[in-house]
Amino acid sequence: MKWDHIIRGGTLVTPQNMFEADVYIKDGKIAAISKEPLEGEAAEVTDAKGRYVLPGLMDTHIHSRDPGPTYKEDFSTSTMAAAAGGITTVFEMPNTKRTINNVENFHAQVENLSAKAHVDFGLWAICLGKLNLDKLQSLNEAGVIGFKFFWGYAINSKTYELAYNYTPGMPDVIPPLHDGEVYLMFEEVAKTGKIFAIHAENNDLIQSLTEKVLASGRRDYEALLEGRPPLAETVTVSTGIHFARATGARLHILHVSAGGSVDVIEQAQREGLPITAETCPQYLFLSNEDFERIGPMMKIYPPIKYRADQERIWKGLQDGVLSIICSDHAPHTLEEKNGDLWEIPAGMVGVETMVPMLLNAVSEGRLTLQQVVALCSENPAKQYGIYPQKGSLAVGTDADFTIVDMGKRVVIKRENLHSRSQNSGFDGVEVTGYPVGTIVRGHTVMKDGEIVSGPIGQVVLSPAK
Ligand code: DOR
Ligand code: ZN
Repeated sequence: MKWDHIIRGGTLVTPQNMFEADVYIKDGKIAAISKEPLEGEAAEVTDAKGRYVLPGLMDTHIHSRDPGPTYKEDFSTSTMAAAAGGITTVFEMPNTKRTINNVENFHAQVENLSAKAHVDFGLWAICLGKLNLDKLQSLNEAGVIGFKFFWGYAINSKTYELAYNYTPGMPDVIPPLHDGEVYLMFEEVAKTGKIFAIHAENNDLIQSLTEKVLASGRRDYEALLEGRPPLAETVTVSTGIHFARATGARLHILHVSAGGSVDVIEQAQREGLPITAETCPQYLFLSNEDFERIGPMMKIYPPIKYRADQERIWKGLQDGVLSIICSDHAPHTLEEKNGDLWEIPAGMVGVETMVPMLLNAVSEGRLTLQQVVALCSENPAKQYGIYPQKGSLAVGTDADFTIVDMGKRVVIKRENLHSRSQNSGFDGVEVTGYPVGTIVRGHTVMKDGEIVSGPIGQVVLSPAK
C-alpha cells in the first residue's frame, strides 16, 4: 500500500486557483496533487466528486472554558463542534481558569487540551500588565500564537473569567488597566515580534454612558448600545494604533464591530503600519434590528451594532482591511442567557456555524469560496506564523482539508450543535452550502456530519523569530 488516504475527484480551491485534482496523503502530509490518477492503493479513499476541497479552515478565536466553567463547554465538545463545522485548527483564548500567563501554565494547558482535541489547536497567551510583563518572552519562545489583551475589561483574579458587567469596587477582580500600563505591554510584546491582539472597548466611556442610560430607566437593547456605542470601540482602536506606531508592535484588532474602527484601521494600513483586523459572522449577518427576533442570545461584547456598521464592515472585508474571519465562540448555557439583558453574560457560540454561514454568503453571491479560503485559512496561517504547514495545499505540508457541498441545505438548529451550550444567534437560519468532511493531518474527523474519530488533535506552535 502506497498511500494512507486519497481524496478523489473534488475541486481544489485556493485563494489563487480552482481546479479538479486528486489529493494523495502519506504520514499526515500532502504527498501529491495530481490531475491524472497515480499508482498505488490507499487505506482510505474519500469520494469528493461534485464537492469542493478547501485547505483546512481555521477558527483563530474560540473560548472553550477548559479548565474552568466546563459545564458551559470543554475542549472535547468545542473541538467536536469545530470538526462538525468544517474547522481543522482552532486557537484557544487564554481566559481560562489556568490562564496562559506564564510558560508553566502554557505547558499544562497543552497537556490538558491534547488529550481532548478533535482538531489541531494553537494557544493564545494573556497579557495582564505588570502581573506578567516579564513572562512574555518565554511564552513567545514556547510557541504561543500571539498575545491577547482585554482592553477595558476587568478579569476575575481567581477564575480569570471576564467580569462581564464590571462596576468599580467589584471584589476579586483585576480592574481595567490604565493606558500607561497598556503602553508598557505594547513595548514588551513588540520585542517578541508576535501579534498583539486587542479586544478594544473603552471602559471609562462605557461606565459613564451606561450610568447615564440606566438613570433614564431604559434597559432595552438600544439602551445597551447607547451605553456601549461604536465610539467605545473606535477610540480604543485609535489609541492602539498610536501605541503600535510608537512601539512597533504588530497590532491585531479582534472582532471589529464598528464602522468607525474600519475607517481608522484602513487609514493606518495606508500609512504602512503592520496592523491587521478580523471580524465575525455575528457582525456580518446581524444588526440591532435583529434583537427583537433573537433576544438576549444576541448579547455579545463588543455588542452587535447598527446597520451602517454592518455595511462598513462588509466593505472593509471586500477591500481587504479586515483579513480574517473567526467566530469568537463564547459558550454560556441557555439558563444563563435567558435573564435580564444587563445582568447576563456576553457571548454566543459560533465555531460550528461560522463556515455554514460563510458558505451561505457564497451561495448568495456576497463572497466567493476563494475569499473564504483566504479569510479562514491562508491569511490567518500567514499572520500567525504557521504557514505553509497550515493554510496551504503545498506538497509536504499538513494534510488538513475542509470538504464542502455547495448544494446541501441545512436549517441550523441549536439542539443539533455539538457544543455543550446552545447559545447561538443563528438558530433557525437556513443555509445553502455546508461542510461535509473535515480531515486533520490525513485523519477523517467528520464525515457527513458525524464525528468519526477520537481526539487526534495536536498543538500547533508558532515559532519565535
Ligand atoms: O461576548 C464576549 N464573550 N466577548 C468576549 O470578548 C469574551 C467572551 C467570553 O469569554 O464569554
Ligand atoms: Zn473573544
